Amino acid sequence: MDKIVVCGGKKLHGEVNISGAKNAAVAIIPAAILVDGVCIIENVPNIRDVHVIVGIMEHMGAKIEFLDKYTLKVDCSCMDKQTAPQEMVRKMRASYYLLGALLGRFNKAEVAMPGGCNFGSRPIDQHIKGFRALGAEVSCEGIVKASAKELVGSSVYLDIVSVGATINVMLAAVLAKGNTTIENVAKEPHIVDVANFLNAMGADIKGAGTDVIKIRGVEKLKGGTYSIIPDQIEAGTFMIAAAATGGDILVKNIIPKHMESVSAKLIEIGAKVTELDDAIRVVGTDVVKNANVKTLPYPGFPTDMQPQIVSLLSIASGTSIVTESVWDSRFQYVDELRRMGADIRVDGKTAVINGVNRLEGAVVSATDLRGGAGMVIAGLMAKGTTEIHEIQHIDRGYEKMEEKFKALGADIRRVSE
Ligand code: EPZ
Repeated sequence: MDKIVVCGGKKLHGEVNISGAKNAAVAIIPAAILVDGVCIIENVPNIRDVHVIVGIMEHMGAKIEFLDKYTLKVDCSCMDKQTAPQEMVRKMRASYYLLGALLGRFNKAEVAMPGGCNFGSRPIDQHIKGFRALGAEVSCEGIVKASAKELVGSSVYLDIVSVGATINVMLAAVLAKGNTTIENVAKEPHIVDVANFLNAMGADIKGAGTDVIKIRGVEKLKGGTYSIIPDQIEAGTFMIAAAATGGDILVKNIIPKHMESVSAKLIEIGAKVTELDDAIRVVGTDVVKNANVKTLPYPGFPTDMQPQIVSLLSIASGTSIVTESVWDSRFQYVDELRRMGADIRVDGKTAVINGVNRLEGAVVSATDLRGGAGMVIAGLMAKGTTEIHEIQHIDRGYEKMEEKFKALGADIRRVSE
């Protein structure tokens, strides 16, 4: 087990390159199951979740090769299994995308209930509702089993705006017979990216990025080359770190439009944010102003940035209120921040943060992926040394986080225990 050790108090300076989007990659790689040919997928982030999904698909007969560190060659034409290996599936949430992709290609899928970060109950009823609307029979007792004679296009209204259900129903529908309309869909950048990937391979999907997605089923998808968008959440994490340390960072290789809610919040707390074509410069402020934040589906403030902004607000001048409206329970990391001197009271889905002058270094744990990112930011701000344990969570979604922070002048290192 590794840990990250940070000596806080350094203002971050310099430029950082953002990797490909995790939440796009973990959907686009299984989406290649639908393709009759070879997909070359570029700008793939080198993170643990990508290696897990690649491992699962290889186990199921796909031929996958890293052409270089960030380029994957995926050939699923010889895939011969419709049952995903349970132990591996339980390592990550996004393994649920195997359901839509396998069902779409083989009319049959068997995938264990997925694992991933623990934010309370994480149902997949909307995914299942969508598969059933397309004509599949689905049972769900520990293992989700879905099968159909053939999938037929249909109308699906999602009761909840769900990223996973939107993508999964889209995957199942691209090769279905006839037209599918999915309403009340999520609009996150990675949904548009998955639709763009499928369209580049020959699918006919319209409306991704709006509330309604329309899909005309096609007979087959052919191979091709596609480059994954930059990671909105990794970019936001570095933007917040710049503000939190009073630093000056140019966050490069991003789509500034995806960052609007984060940029607006950073301006509100007093940071200077300058948008360039494919980069954003953030200059921190000596006094962080308090602010209220409510997480919402895109284009609202992302729930995956909630721990990072709470870390920043823990040293704000005054009281801030952060409301989590996507997940039932996403404040587990707050106990760890309190060990560092943060004054935060959590009441259900709301955190009331009374800003303190400074955080103090402590021994803490990454309770989950983004909670871990929040702890690294807290460590960068704190006086003294912070040791962050359980960093396997961070490695799931951030590529060499400590190396990127080190290049920006942070006193940070990974230590093998
Ligand atoms: C995706 O999870 C992301 N994961 C999450 O990022 C992110 O927090 C979340 O979207 C919201 O933006 C991936 O893309 C792999 P949802 P997902 O379905 O798709 C409820 C990270 O840190 N719901 O949009 O699983 C659900 O309980 C991870 O990178 C149902 O009730 O999230 C939640 O309250 C963590 N029934 C809300 O909808 C369903 O069938 C949104 O969940 C599906 C979801």
